[in-house]
Amino acid sequence: MPTQLLGPLPGPLLGSSARLHSVEDARRAARWRMPKLIFDYVDGAAGAEQAALRNQQSLDDVQLQPRALVNVDKRDISHSFLGTQWQRPFGIAPMGMCNLTWPDADAMLAAAAVSNGMPVGLSTAASSSIEETWERAGENAWFQLYVGQSIDLGLSLVDRAATAGYTTLILTVDVPQVAPRLRDLRNGFKAPLKIGPRQFLDFALHPEWSIRTLLGGTPELANFRTESGHTAFNREDGRGKITWEFLKQLRDHWKGQLIIKGIMHADDAMQARDLGVDAVYISNHGGRQLDSAPAAITRLPLIRQAVGADCPLLFDSGIRNGESIVKALASGADFVMLGRPYMYGIGAAGADGLQRIIDILSAEISQTMAQIGATGIADLDAGVLPPE
Ligand SMILES: Cc1cc2nc3c(=O)[nH]c(=O)nc-3n(C[C@H](O)[C@H](O)[C@H](O)COP(=O)(O)O)c2cc1C
Repeated sequence: MPTQLLGPLPGPLLGSSARLHSVEDARRAARWRMPKLIFDYVDGAAGAEQAALRNQQSLDDVQLQPRALVNVDKRDISHSFLGTQWQRPFGIAPMGMCNLTWPDADAMLAAAAVSNGMPVGLSTAASSSIEETWERAGENAWFQLYVGQSIDLGLSLVDRAATAGYTTLILTVDVPQVAPRLRDLRNGFKAPLKIGPRQFLDFALHPEWSIRTLLGGTPELANFRTESGHTAFNREDGRGKITWEFLKQLRDHWKGQLIIKGIMHADDAMQARDLGVDAVYISNHGGRQLDSAPAAITRLPLIRQAVGADCPLLFDSGIRNGESIVKALASGADFVMLGRPYMYGIGAAGADGLQRIIDILSAEISQTMAQIGATGIADLDAGVLPPE
């Protein structure tokens, strides 16, 4: 039964979004409301989680230059990227199995993308299908491709996306193998979920999540639904088969805009640019893949310098506030994506919590711009960083 049909359950039981004043507030509230198994899947990272920590610390270390006596009374955070005028310079990164965070999370993300004028990535491993998400979000939806054991299966997903209407495809290349995530291993996290006594206790302690999930049905890998219930995509299977040859093949195959996600080296960025991608997406997967990876923000200026001023760059990994979005834009990104913060908002207070996160980030960007003498996103370049 779709959980929307539950009627009066939502508002009163979910936390109030009014008491959320930062992404960290939402993270703390979500930690209470979500089963530990699920919170840790979202919040966790590879190995000892040093890369995830480094992402945030390095963003905190970037400084912005305050400026005086600039008329910043009117400020505009709308921004053009890849031919679309977005209402804000940030979007929703693709995330697998979002409906585990909260039933209907995918629908909330799609609706928020449309009403807030921002893009939403739909993962290959999503709990909503390519077609459902196109119905919900239309041109705000970008399809994210993982290629696992079968290149033909990967290309068939690309064809489904084209048929549905998508015009932007993200190829993620930083998961040659899903990295061991200690919290998931310790909690016994498996997709699809396997429920033993420990998980049962965890769910029993979080009855609202559990009742809703029970009524809504356990989330599944919706792009691989089959009548037999067998899924053609195994999360644990290697995705390390593809090479630059595949990127060439994909560039020929896909006529829409192509983004390559998970680039951390200037040589890789230049090679992708030269093979005709429309944008390079700098990311270390939020620290979820290589624990010893450098902080993504430290690669951004290097990659910008290598690819030149005209190559569109997206950035994610570790952004937790509007100031950091400004820092990424000033360091060479043309557009910024975030992952976990939206999940914290949903886990804390459902669709209201998600909206609250988007509002907080938007207000923080605008307030930061006022301090540094900027009135539009185009003002956010190296000139707003303190001189060396
Ligand atoms: C729960 C979760 C699932 C994710 N699943 C995917 C995925 O299926 N495909 C993908 O390209 N990236 C995936 N990512 C990575 C995000 O797209 C993004 O790179 C990362 O979350 C950015 O870091 P942040 O969470 O610190 O903002 C996932 C991230 C999280 C937190």
